[in-house]
Amino acid sequence: MIVMTPGPVRIGTPNSPGATRVLLLGAGELGKEVVIALQRLGVEVIAVDRYDGAPGQQVAHRAHTIDMTDAAALTALVEAERPDLVIPEIEAIATDALAALEAAGTTTVIPTARATRLTMDREGIRRLAAEELGLPTSPYAFADSLDELRAAVEGSADGPGIGYPCVVKPVMSSSGKGQSVLRSAADLDHAWEYAMAGGRVARARVIVEGFVAFDYEITLLTVRASTTDGGTATSFCAPIGHLQRDGDYVESWQPQPMSDAALAEARRIAGAVTANLGGRGVFGVELFVAGDRVLFSEVSPRPHDTGLVTLATQRLSEFELHARAVLGLPVDVTLLSPGASAVVYGGVDATGIAFEGVADALAVPGTDVRLFGKPESFVRRRMGVAVAVGDDVAQARERATTAASLVRPVTA
Ligand SMILES: Nc1ncnc2c1ncn2[C@@H]1O[C@H](COP(=O)(O)OP(=O)(O)OP(=O)(O)O)[C@@H](O)[C@H]1O
Ligand SMILES: [Mg+2]
Repeated sequence: MIVMTPGPVRIGTPNSPGATRVLLLGAGELGKEVVIALQRLGVEVIAVDRYDGAPGQQVAHRAHTIDMTDAAALTALVEAERPDLVIPEIEAIATDALAALEAAGTTTVIPTARATRLTMDREGIRRLAAEELGLPTSPYAFADSLDELRAAVEGSADGPGIGYPCVVKPVMSSSGKGQSVLRSAADLDHAWEYAMAGGRVARARVIVEGFVAFDYEITLLTVRASTTDGGTATSFCAPIGHLQRDGDYVESWQPQPMSDAALAEARRIAGAVTANLGGRGVFGVELFVAGDRVLFSEVSPRPHDTGLVTLATQRLSEFELHARAVLGLPVDVTLLSPGASAVVYGGVDATGIAFEGVADALAVPGTDVRLFGKPESFVRRRMGVAVAVGDDVAQARERATTAASLVRPVTA
């Protein structure tokens, strides 16, 4: 375990022996923005992904392409590059290898190796939040077979079940993969098969959660950063509301209006989870809100996709906040304007696509567009995002969705 010694932060010159070196594991659109933020602070950045030409690799000093779930390959790369910091930007990583590298003092893992391990597994983070920290969540159970799933939902001699409607998810998955809502016993078989096909690893385990009829859901970006006296302070960005479709976010906005009581409860929950996970950096705490009641859903120990809106709304985007926090620098979570983001999908399955209509999109007042530069497009792959500011959230959402719809992916 590395003990952070308080002291002045020093940033060296990139590509020199004194460089401050950061290795990013995962170089998608979120990683790309983190790389750019680090580059601006004069940090040497090495971007790693499982395919060549990933967005973050295009803007880093160096790039590597490896299977990040391969512990030996990951360890060899970290030992060769000797980064000061390793920043995991995706969940599918050999987290045991990260824990070993952290324990050996080879590098520092952001926020901590334990946090990356707990959050990649729905069981780890759910048990921590609900059972150790006593935070409110949906009712839940785990199952390793179709029979166990049926018992978990419908009840057994051991006790009552979760009941319908409920949600089944592979314990290792993201972006809604393998996730389905069950309305009756007729949905059990399909939910199990779908979860088995969508899980990240060949592990037949699912979580079943009671379906939460929330009024709205938010991401509360929570930043753990160093203070000048060597301690750690927690700051909260304004809450981000978002719309999910098939487990993927399509629109987000900031600030999401909340009652004082709900906001205080959201901060309490986010503060408790992030304090336990520890380390420094941005966390995306996902919460369901009904009236003044707030339930913890899950947390990313890194910038969150719905937080792309902060590229338009905050003085420092979530990526700049992450860069500052991981380096031990002070942060500022000031919101400058209400704003919104809307996703641009590929719309086609093709490589080397082009985008038309960008000029029309940018002619919408208050907008900006990010095209991620992904080498390959899929119909439902996120290829870009439109962000907008406005007088209020409603105007910003209108602008962002209009701009996103004007960007047209075409096969080159
Ligand atoms: N128990 C639940 N009740 C109601 N809706 C839910 C529940 N669990 C998940 N959802 C809906 O599905 C979305 C995705 O769920 P979740 O965040 O658990 O999956 P994910 O695969 O990790 O998604 P992502 O990686 O995009 O965050 C949630 O944002 C929410 O809209
Ligand atoms: Mg989620």
